[in-house]
Amino acid sequence: MTGNPVVVGITGASGAVMARATVDELLRRDIPTVVLCTNPAKLVWQEELGENFNETLVQWQEHPGFTHYAINDLRAPVASGTYPTAGMVLVPASMNSIASLAGGLSGNLLLRTADVCLKERRPLVMVPRETPLHSIHLENMLTLSKMGAVVVPPEPAFYLQPKGIDDIVEFVVARIFVALGLEESMPDDMQYHGPAE
Ligand SMILES: Cc1cc2nc3c(=O)[nH]c(=O)nc-3n(C[C@H](O)[C@H](O)[C@H](O)COP(=O)(O)O)c2cc1C
Repeated sequence: MTGNPVVVGITGASGAVMARATVDELLRRDIPTVVLCTNPAKLVWQEELGENFNETLVQWQEHPGFTHYAINDLRAPVASGTYPTAGMVLVPASMNSIASLAGGLSGNLLLRTADVCLKERRPLVMVPRETPLHSIHLENMLTLSKMGAVVVPPEPAFYLQPKGIDDIVEFVVARIFVALGLEESMPDDMQYHGPAE
């Protein structure tokens, strides 16, 4: 296992399944992975996946490339710009965490690490989940986009005719990998090749 770690920040928006799939895929590829998770995200995890977040952590910790830091552990290496990472994805990204980040606030380890990515000009990808969006949500995302963050709403690729949630999640994860620069392009079967003959 080589390379700088990818940081996965999990916040308390709906869509825990996307966070789990992202971490699973990073580890399947033996990419060093650091996970940071807010307390609201743990509530959502339980509600949406029917699993305690700590149980999931135990499974991930079997992988040698996996690291987890507590949300208030501001002495973790990723809190410093001197510690190299390959970038970070916020998946799912709550409007609360996006607003904090857009306002330059970094009161927990997840926000601090994302803020470090912005200041060090490292890849920062956000998968926002809220609907409908009001003007402040949109303005916050615009602010972060202007600073170089890539906003990847978890929207189904209707043109690929997804069969269910698994297909949608797989597509979003592939989008995340491209946005982080871990892949050059989407897999062939997720590319649009024009209307069926
Ligand atoms: C089951 C559940 C679902 C939620 N879904 C969303 C959501 O989709 N988007 C969002 O922005 N907040 C959502 N929230 C509210 C956030 O969890 C809340 O704003 C929290 O303060 C976010 O904190 P964090 O950014 O530190 O994770 C949800 C909360 C719960 C309990």
